[in-house]
Amino acid sequence: MADLEGVKIAKDYHVDVPFANNEPFYVKGANNLDWGMKKHLSNIFNKKSGNTVMFAFDHGYFMGSTAGLERLDLVIPKLLPNIDVLMGTRGALRTCVDPANGKGIALRATSGSSMLNEDLSHEVLAVDIEDAIRMNADCLAIQTFIGADGQLSSLENLSKAVNLGQRYSIPVMGVVAVGKQMERTPRFFKLATRILAELGANIIKTYYCEDFEEVVAACPVPIVVAGGKKLPEEEALTLAYNSIKGGAKGLDMGRNIFQSTHAVEMSAAIRKIVHEGYTDKEAYEFFQDAINK
Ligand code: R5P
Repeated sequence: MADLEGVKIAKDYHVDVPFANNEPFYVKGANNLDWGMKKHLSNIFNKKSGNTVMFAFDHGYFMGSTAGLERLDLVIPKLLPNIDVLMGTRGALRTCVDPANGKGIALRATSGSSMLNEDLSHEVLAVDIEDAIRMNADCLAIQTFIGADGQLSSLENLSKAVNLGQRYSIPVMGVVAVGKQMERTPRFFKLATRILAELGANIIKTYYCEDFEEVVAACPVPIVVAGGKKLPEEEALTLAYNSIKGGAKGLDMGRNIFQSTHAVEMSAAIRKIVHEGYTDKEAYEFFQDAINK
């Protein structure tokens, strides 16, 4: 309790000044959410640009040790300056990531298959909400399989996560999976992203596609774009640029960063597109300058 000696009388009420905290919240679809939800979303999306650079390194949850991620303890610290949000499993985070990293956390919360399975679409909600709270997760990442065998159980996982997330003010990121047999058409992505948002996801992770602007327009929450398979750096930067130009609020990129022979420079170039309005051409020039220094 403050020392009462020398207490000044409160008098500076600025009675002519309107209440200052009246701005609409800057994250799409989040205006009516609780303060705690908004706080988590502000740990994910930069208030100035509105966007985010997520680094996906959760591949081990079904692929085990992945090329480029053999030593998470060595890879992640180098990339941190260019990353806003770390997307990983609780096992990877707890064992290999410094908790004093100052970054948002997208916690991979579903699992249940491995790359040895023919059908990867059957997962369970594997992380208790109490553990997500202990991890101080800023969102729960839930894999969904629209149009695949595991559609029902994955949407059940998503719905359970949304119920728990609403209870404790933790946002949910619905992740749109694309299987070998699943189409990658604008029709599919419009369907899948809208379904996940209607079920209560606060962020959608999906893939870039033709007519991406329409996918974004029809989705009432922010979309972040997954990187997908490793591309030459110039193409990956074009994918990133097209995504942001098309209305994505960020990238959630894995292999196109950690499998680059210049992962740090690649993550820095992605950051230029996401937060500084660089075109793909400008970002590639930046990348080349950085690797030739
Ligand atoms: C999503 O389902 C995966 O676990 C990864 O988070 C996702 O594929 C992003 O990584 P990448 O950019 O390597 O595709």
